[in-house]
Amino acid sequence: MSTTFQLDTATSRANPTPAPMKRLTIPAIRRRKVDGITAEPIVMLTAYTARQAQLLDEHCDLLLVGDSLGQVIYGLPSSVPVTLDMMAAHGAAVVRGSYHAVVIVDMPFGSYEASPEQAFTSAARLLKETGCAGVKLEGGEAMAETVAFLGRRGIPVMGHVGLTPQAVNQLGGYGARGRSAAEADKIIADARALEAAGAFAIVVEGVIEPLAIAVTKAVACPVIGIGGSAQCDGQVLVAEDMLGMFERVPRFVKRYAEISAVIGEAAARYAAEVRARSFPTEAQTYQPK
Ligand code: KIV
Repeated sequence: MSTTFQLDTATSRANPTPAPMKRLTIPAIRRRKVDGITAEPIVMLTAYTARQAQLLDEHCDLLLVGDSLGQVIYGLPSSVPVTLDMMAAHGAAVVRGSYHAVVIVDMPFGSYEASPEQAFTSAARLLKETGCAGVKLEGGEAMAETVAFLGRRGIPVMGHVGLTPQAVNQLGGYGARGRSAAEADKIIADARALEAAGAFAIVVEGVIEPLAIAVTKAVACPVIGIGGSAQCDGQVLVAEDMLGMFERVPRFVKRYAEISAVIGEAAARYAAEVRARSFPTEAQTYQPK
């Protein structure tokens, strides 16, 4: 039997490797919202590893390789220190672990704000090294020129308004935004500017519910809420938050599992068996043939 790989000529030249599922596309996500209505809400979760992507993929329309990996994976105090190298490595892992969802990779702080050219260089690297379909960046009106610049060069961009965690040093914390009329108006203007610049979707994070609804109504592209409203066009959560990996989670998180308890109990049983020399048993050891 040949050990070389065979090219499957039944597949297309663009996708020579047969994949178990056809991947969704960004235009298909964009088309979910028609005349202001998204009949089928968009499902997005974060993913940072290949195995996590494998488990989440079939249930999601989008997998976001969020820069929240700074805190969740690396134990950093915020997303500010996250690097392009980290995003590229985790983005590639998530693309390798998924077949169905659109994979979006966050542009980390410092990789895009200086100029549209800097943003293009960073985003192009993420697309080339990970195989992701698009990038997400934080900021509204100030980033509109960059979003348009990337879009004209073939890079789809998801915007992110409201609570923008990369700006934590300027915002002074992670509290809900849009409580004053001026701040609410600014967030709506940010979303409109991103849409006009060609963003295919916008995340609205950590805003009071009436503002999340107003942002969703203000733009034609899908608005994906996190700490927003069930009336947004879709929802996103950090997977580890909704899986119950952390004791403390923000108010907007619903825990769908208690994974940290499962891990703690498994580790405790393992430790007890190692100390009692009851692991490994015959079933887990190799014997001479
Ligand atoms: O980094 C992230 O996980 C995000 C989501 C919270 C939207 O940006």
